[in-house]
Amino acid sequence: MRAAVLRDPALGLQVEEIKTPHPRDGEVLVKVTACGLCHSDLHVIGGKIAFPMPAVLGHEVTGEIVEVGPGNQHTGLSVGQHVAGAFLMPCGQCDYCAQGRDDLCAPFFDLNRIKGQLYDGETRLFALDDEPIAMYSMGALAEYCVIPATSVAVLEDSMDMVSGAILGCAALTGYGAVRRGADLRYGESVAVVATGGIGSNIIQVAKAFGAEKIIAIDVADDKLEAAKALGATDVVNSLKQNVREAVFEITDGRGVDVAFEALGRPETWASALDALRDGGRMVPIGLGAGVQTAAVEINRTVRRSQSILGSYGARTRQDLPVVVKMASEGKIDYQHIVTRRFPLEEAGKGYELLAQGKIQGRAVVDMSL
Ligand SMILES: NC(=O)c1ccc[n+]([C@@H]2O[C@H](COP(=O)([O-])OP(=O)(O)OC[C@H]3O[C@@H](n4cnc5c(N)ncnc54)[C@H](O)[C@@H]3O)[C@@H](O)[C@H]2O)c1
Ligand SMILES: [Zn+2]
Ligand SMILES: [Zn+2]
Repeated sequence: MRAAVLRDPALGLQVEEIKTPHPRDGEVLVKVTACGLCHSDLHVIGGKIAFPMPAVLGHEVTGEIVEVGPGNQHTGLSVGQHVAGAFLMPCGQCDYCAQGRDDLCAPFFDLNRIKGQLYDGETRLFALDDEPIAMYSMGALAEYCVIPATSVAVLEDSMDMVSGAILGCAALTGYGAVRRGADLRYGESVAVVATGGIGSNIIQVAKAFGAEKIIAIDVADDKLEAAKALGATDVVNSLKQNVREAVFEITDGRGVDVAFEALGRPETWASALDALRDGGRMVPIGLGAGVQTAAVEINRTVRRSQSILGSYGARTRQDLPVVVKMASEGKIDYQHIVTRRFPLEEAGKGYELLAQGKIQGRAVVDMSL
């Protein structure tokens, strides 16, 4: 099969012919329809976050199940189903998974995120000469990918399979930030700092959960316009306005109940913390480019009883089916978020545009192109 392989950050992604993988126990083989291009991949492609190479990236995917591995009797999965695959693939058996905390699954971090393997300590991807190729999540920038059954949700037949690719990371992470990280309540006010692929979904899920004010904060006016169309009630361009002054003016001098941070830089942390009311919750979702720190004003955080609640993905087995339902019911507009489609051969170009801030919403690789 064809796959976009990363052998060296200096060379970038190169499409190669590699062996078509096969599912093992509790896994399915998916013929990829589309795969979203997420900012997290940029950290790996740029060599900022360490990952074994060669590797196949791509961690938000839709496709059709073409083979069901053994041990799937109770999963309800069968050949021909259309599914979305989540980047956070819980093993289903560790202590955290037993507590329902798929987002903390230990084997996912230890084996997949560090070594590019699945839970038997092996990858499913091999070059034609049998060289092992690491999998970042399921390694979906390819014609086929193997996904653990824990990490797929069946799509309605009526759903757009190409745009649906964003459900497994951008929408799932947005849902996790709102439902799990913030535990947002009806009528609360929120700010969303950085309204890219993830931020756009946070806005929509916050609206669905009944947020009263949704203040989008970004440095690009076109992204702020798009944020309004998705449900932002107010927008602030942090290059042109002082974030704290603007947010406090919009919230009658109080600040927001919840400030989401969706980029992972010191300046976006500062914006999110500056937007908070007394007793507010700051929910960072953005990943730093490697080991990175941000400043937190000690006395303001302590005296004003503010919380910082990191949020990674979501609880895949509980939350991915809800995200799919919200999308099928129009609560998450996953179709208009996808603004660019690239063939597999141009995945590298798509990531370049993403790194330059030139992708509004989300770009996807569409395998039919
Ligand atoms: N926690 C998780 O589970 C999880 C999952 C996926 C992605 N991420 C991380 O989330 C972050 C966002 O990913 P994405 O795919 O949405 O990225 P993206 O590239 O689509 O969006 C980034 C946005 O940030 C804006 N921006 C740039 N500089 C800014 C600034 N100084 N202030 C405000 N906005 C600014 C851009 O205009 C753009 O709208 C990345 O760090 C990614 O690694 C985390
Ligand atoms: Zn992602
Ligand atoms: Zn686990």
